[in-house]
Amino acid sequence: MLAPLRVHLTRQYAKLCDRPDFDDPALIAVLREVQQDSDPATHVERKAWEMAMLALFLEDTGRLDDRSEVLAVGAGTEPILYWLANRVGRVVATDIYGEGDFAGREASASMVDAPQSHAPFAYREDRLQARWMDARRLDFADESFDAVYSLSSIEHFGSPADIARSASEIGRVLRPGGHAFIVTECFVRRDSRDAAPVDFAVRLLTFGRRRPLATPRRRAVLDDVFTPRELRRRIIEPSGLDLMQPLDLRLSPRAWDNIARYAPGTCDVLTPSGSFYPHILLEVSRSVFTSVCLPMEKPRP
Ligand SMILES: C[S@@+](CC[C@H](N)C(=O)[O-])C[C@H]1O[C@@H](n2cnc3c(N)ncnc32)[C@H](O)[C@@H]1O
Repeated sequence: MLAPLRVHLTRQYAKLCDRPDFDDPALIAVLREVQQDSDPATHVERKAWEMAMLALFLEDTGRLDDRSEVLAVGAGTEPILYWLANRVGRVVATDIYGEGDFAGREASASMVDAPQSHAPFAYREDRLQARWMDARRLDFADESFDAVYSLSSIEHFGSPADIARSASEIGRVLRPGGHAFIVTECFVRRDSRDAAPVDFAVRLLTFGRRRPLATPRRRAVLDDVFTPRELRRRIIEPSGLDLMQPLDLRLSPRAWDNIARYAPGTCDVLTPSGSFYPHILLEVSRSVFTSVCLPMEKPRP
């Protein structure tokens, strides 16, 4: 289903996750539907923001319609799949279910045969299909979907070349005039020591004992977070899609209120308040990052 020729976006989507975004009543209303077990007014969190921004974007682009076919890439068992199944004609969730680092978590193998077992609420079961699929080789014909999205996943698809390949695949399977929404992670403050040449020098000086994966162009630490330039070079340009708005990299002072850090040697998150919420920024190594949305459109011939 083709969208109207001119789409009017009602808010800035090409942006970083920020605390004032949670003052938007429309965003909170969507979250009340998607995350029925938590209060979005208090559980201010990047992950929730990603799903709500996607939902609002699909509404703005006219995709919440029974004629729309939507593809989710690196989808895991995210609740927005079920919300969409109640609002569009067809949702296909793809992931390397049962494999990789997330097999015991987001990418549970049981999603393929029993998506209903992960449903957070009642949904139209005939509208959602989950398939094992590598994002670098999407098993769909060109121009198969009206909308394609990927939340918090593309940074996990492999090397810069793998990520570019998956972006190109997203662009390929989208119909002309169709819309893509990719959410990933972006530095808001990057220490000059968190850089590929520094990591590569450490690798050479330690004869590969430390940072063995570093290359002159690939960081060994924080290689799953992008600079704005890397977003453009590794995702937007290879996708062949147009970014619909200039990327706004500003953050309010409120974003820095409760910056999270990992406790040394663990995956436990420490915050100044002692509460996980609000969760907007994460500091790792000496750098700080958050989620970023890339709203894109496939040019018509
Ligand atoms: C952080 S999880 C996010 C999952 C889900 N989008 C969400 O927001 O809950 C990253 C996902 O990327 C998936 N993934 C990693 N490599 C992949 C690949 N090559 N192809 C498809 N999915 C992949 C993982 O299996 C995992 O489900």
